[in-house]
Amino acid sequence: SSPPIISPSLLACDWSKIGEEVRRCMDAGAVRLHVDIFDGVFLDSPLALTFGPQMVAAIRRCSQEAILDLHMCVERPARYIGPMKEAGGTTFIFQWESVLREDNPIKEALLIAASVRDHGMECGISINPSTMVEDIFPLLNSGLVAIVDVLSVEPGFGGQSFQDVAVEKIEKLLRFRERRDSPLEFKILVDGGINTETAGLSKRADILVAGTYLFQHNSMSDGIKELISSCTD
Ligand code: DX5
Ligand code: ZN
Repeated sequence: SSPPIISPSLLACDWSKIGEEVRRCMDAGAVRLHVDIFDGVFLDSPLALTFGPQMVAAIRRCSQEAILDLHMCVERPARYIGPMKEAGGTTFIFQWESVLREDNPIKEALLIAASVRDHGMECGISINPSTMVEDIFPLLNSGLVAIVDVLSVEPGFGGQSFQDVAVEKIEKLLRFRERRDSPLEFKILVDGGINTETAGLSKRADILVAGTYLFQHNSMSDGIKELISSCTD
């Protein structure tokens, strides 16, 4: 199968020149940009607070063609669907753990996924390293989910080390997706701690998010090529 595509995470960019950084990603051949929306409540740290809809709109103004994957690490994600569509988001990836407080988490997740689709965005679901991938299978069965974000670090900050637990989740998702009765079409994305060593471990995924590795590289296009070649070696 073909190697994963590489999606730069703007969390690691220089926020004082967001426009140039978006251009740098697109000029390096990126198609999907990963935008970490952290509310400081779901992650319970004032230091984790990141972007809101106004910043997403600013990023959209820098590139009309970029696919903007919004990784919503927020409480009550449903409130953000309208504003994030308005701001120019393409994909709304919410955290499974943010609906666990509901009486019926699957039902709540299905409502969110349906609303995301009604708003004309694609829906993604993200799971923390400690969450079992089987927990979201009923949601995936709905066919409403276009992306599964397998977190390979605790969400909140860039620059952490890759947790191997992601690798077996990729395999389980691949097996689940390929079931012979009704193949599903969601993409598998791995998020956190991706570098030339861990990209190889994650090579059966469809999308690898990389923040620190790409933005610390002196050539982003070389960085993307190096990550892809570590998946094909
Ligand atoms: C983790 C975020 C990731 C992060 C990845 O909190 O969800 O998207 O930006 O950054 P790196 O590649 O630095 O681990
Ligand atoms: Zn993320």
